Amino acid sequence: MSVHNNVKKVTTHVLQEMKNAGEKITMLTGYDYTMARIIDRAGIDVILVGDSASNVMAGHETTLPITLNEMIYHASSVVRGVDRALVVVDMPFGSYQGNSKEALSSAIRIMKESGGHAVKLEGGQEILESITRILTAGIPVMGHLGLTPQSIYKFGTYVVRAREKNEAEQLIEDAKALEAAGCFAIVLEKIPAELAAKVAAEVTIPIIGIGAGSGVDGQVLVVHDMLGINNDFSPRFLRKYHNLFEEMMDSFHRYIDDVRSGDFPNKEEQY
Ligand code: KIV
Repeated sequence: MSVHNNVKKVTTHVLQEMKNAGEKITMLTGYDYTMARIIDRAGIDVILVGDSASNVMAGHETTLPITLNEMIYHASSVVRGVDRALVVVDMPFGSYQGNSKEALSSAIRIMKESGGHAVKLEGGQEILESITRILTAGIPVMGHLGLTPQSIYKFGTYVVRAREKNEAEQLIEDAKALEAAGCFAIVLEKIPAELAAKVAAEVTIPIIGIGAGSGVDGQVLVVHDMLGINNDFSPRFLRKYHNLFEEMMDSFHRYIDDVRSGDFPNKEEQY
C-alpha cells in the first residue's frame, strides 16, 4: 500500500496480495461524492464508478445511454470523496469498441479528467487489442465477463450466462486472455458459481463476482441495491442490508406532515 495523507491506499498490487493471501476483496459501486465518502470510510477496498449510473442515477432502462462525459463527472465526484479505496471507472458503451486508438483516448480522458485509478471494460478476446493499447499507456484495466450489460440487446435477457458448455469454455479462455494481456482483475457477473470458482482457481489475478457465488476472490454489489433504495429489484444474488426505500419514504412523509401542520420549523429551528 502506498502512503499519502497518512492513509494506506489500496492499489492494484494490494488486491493481488490479497488474493495471494486468501483475503476477500470488497467492492461496491459509487457515483457521487457523499456516498463515496461514506463507503471509503467504511473501509471498502474498491469503489467502482459503474455505468450502472445510467440506471440508478439517470433512470435509463439500460447502461447504453450514459456518455463518457457523464462517466467522468460521476468518477471525479467519487474521487473527491475517497482517501483509501481504489477507484475503478467503467468505460461506457461506445467509448472503446470502435478501435483501439479511440479506446485509448477514452481511457486517457477518464484518467486525466476524473483522477480515477483504473478503468473497466466489458468483453473478452474481441476487445483485446483495445485492452492491450490502454495497458501500454500505463492505465490499469479490470475486465468484465459473463453477463455484460452493454451487450443486453445481443443477449436479449438478463438471465444467468455461461450455463452451456461452449459459452463456459469461451469464458475461461477469455479470462485467461485478459490475464495474459495484463488485466489486474476481472469481474464475473451472473454465471454459475462452479464455473466462477474454476476461473478464480485457474487464473492468478483477482476475480470479483456479482451473482457468481462464493468461490471467487471478492464480491461487488450496486450500492443502491444493497441498501434497498431500489425496492423493485430483488434478484437471487442480492443481499439487502437495509430497506432504505421504506426508511426514506417514512422520513419524507413525516417532513411533509410537519410542514403542512406548521410543526416545522419550531422556535429552536429558526433565527
Ligand atoms: O456498472 C456496474 O455497476 C457494474 C457492476 C454490476 C459490476 O459493472
